[in-house]
Amino acid sequence: MTRGVPEAGAAGAGRSPRILVGADAQHAGRLAAGVVLSTVRANPAAVLGLATGSSPLPLYAALADAAVDFSRVSGFALDEYLGLPDGHPQSYAEVIRTAVTEPLGLDPRRVHVPDPHGTDHAGHAAEYDAAIDAAGGVDVQILGVGSNGHIGFNEPGSAFDSRTRVVALAERTRQDNARFFDTPDQVPRECLTQGIATIFGARHLLLIAHGAQKAEPVRRALHGPVTEDFPASIIQRHPRVTVVLDEAAATLLGRTSAE
Ligand code: GLP
Repeated sequence: MTRGVPEAGAAGAGRSPRILVGADAQHAGRLAAGVVLSTVRANPAAVLGLATGSSPLPLYAALADAAVDFSRVSGFALDEYLGLPDGHPQSYAEVIRTAVTEPLGLDPRRVHVPDPHGTDHAGHAAEYDAAIDAAGGVDVQILGVGSNGHIGFNEPGSAFDSRTRVVALAERTRQDNARFFDTPDQVPRECLTQGIATIFGARHLLLIAHGAQKAEPVRRALHGPVTEDFPASIIQRHPRVTVVLDEAAATLLGRTSAE
């Protein structure tokens, strides 16, 4: 199931994304939930790609409020920090457990996060990609976008054909994420992240962004050059993309279909 990323203009290169704009982050979360719920209603054993960060939290809250059975749904987190102690509240295993698995009622055995333990990170990364393939691939991949254009933790310069691997966090990312830690020094320096090609293999990409600080990253993702220097730009080549924004994040887009 290894799928590559098509060249610009190649057969299968992306068509225009669907763009939904909510009045605020909560409204956007409900719009994004509609996308996920229609997938899960059509396939109660759907496979979701799970993002962390603040962007998807209103989506997860809206899903938790929906009267839908998630017990057969599987989830694969995008990434995990290296070097945090087990149970650290900012480890993505914990974030996914408390924000997604428990509130939505997912079966913990079906929820996967890259394994940061031990020293064989390349082995764990390869196992993670294999597990996604064995599950049949991801139906809907939820994505945020970093201020520097990262998706997952694919920092600028990440190869479009990259798979799950160890990545050194950009200093900008460590600064952005310092708000989740007691001191900036506590932000890990490395992580395991799904690669760009891993993410691109999902059948539907659902990118969520809120706030004025995301307006420029969203504009570059949708309308800037498609370049490894701005990893989120790869969405322009994907055949099925939904972008859900609040009004502040949509201000630099010329054309949006507000709902
Ligand atoms: C984080 C995560 C990404 C997330 C992004 C944006 O560090 N690794 O998956 O999408 O950065 O975060 P936020 O949604 O908090 O702006």
